[in-house]
Amino acid sequence: MRLTTIGRGNVGGGLADLWEKAGHQVTRLGREGGDATGSDAVLVAVPGGVVAEALEKVRGLEGKLVIDATNRFGVEPPAGFQSNAEYVKAKTQGPTAKSFNINFAKMYGQIGQARTAPSNLWCGDDEAREVVERLIRDAGYEPVRVGKLDKAGAQERMIEGVIGILEQMGPFVYRMAPPDRL
Ligand SMILES: NC(=O)c1ccc[n+]([C@@H]2O[C@H](COP(=O)([O-])OP(=O)(O)OC[C@H]3O[C@@H](n4cnc5c(N)ncnc54)[C@H](OP(=O)(O)O)[C@@H]3O)[C@@H](O)[C@H]2O)c1
Repeated sequence: MRLTTIGRGNVGGGLADLWEKAGHQVTRLGREGGDATGSDAVLVAVPGGVVAEALEKVRGLEGKLVIDATNRFGVEPPAGFQSNAEYVKAKTQGPTAKSFNINFAKMYGQIGQARTAPSNLWCGDDEAREVVERLIRDAGYEPVRVGKLDKAGAQERMIEGVIGILEQMGPFVYRMAPPDRL
């Protein structure tokens, strides 16, 4: 797939590395923005309080499938929205998902060593499912769906608990499995 990351830091750059290894072609955009016209999917990985500003600087987002990986850390979503991800959807009008916000970029280099693929949470539109789950698997994780896009606010707030765990054990991975896949 042709992918664009808006943000090329720990998450944008880290996932770009993993996706390139899996055979995708990735364009990495920084704060100067750029053009996403030819992309099959777009990742948003900028600080949680600057999503609106970052989207303004990128052309060709209309109708695109977007995965929003941002966390807000006490910053409210743009006015009138319950989550950054729902704001993204209102701007792009394409299939939208929230994912990769509940995993640490620091661990990307070690995912391949896991005995069993760690989980990666996502929520979002049904039309995004095939691509999002493929990109989660291509990064080395197993997708776990939280729900539709109206769960994005809950998935963004989960970071508070995750930071609590981080303070106890440092960066970590996790796995969620139903009884028939123990
Ligand atoms: N780090 C993690 O483990 C982790 C895990 C899950 C989710 N997240 C979330 O993912 C997002 C990115 O985190 P990160 O650790 O990758 O951050 P980072 O390494 O600091 O990278 C941030 C990226 O955002 C760009 N940026 C900064 N300000 C901008 C602006 N005003 N407009 C447009 N682009 C801007 C930067 O552009 P330049 O390249 O031009 O400087 C950079 O490429 C955050 O929302 C974070 O909470 C982080």
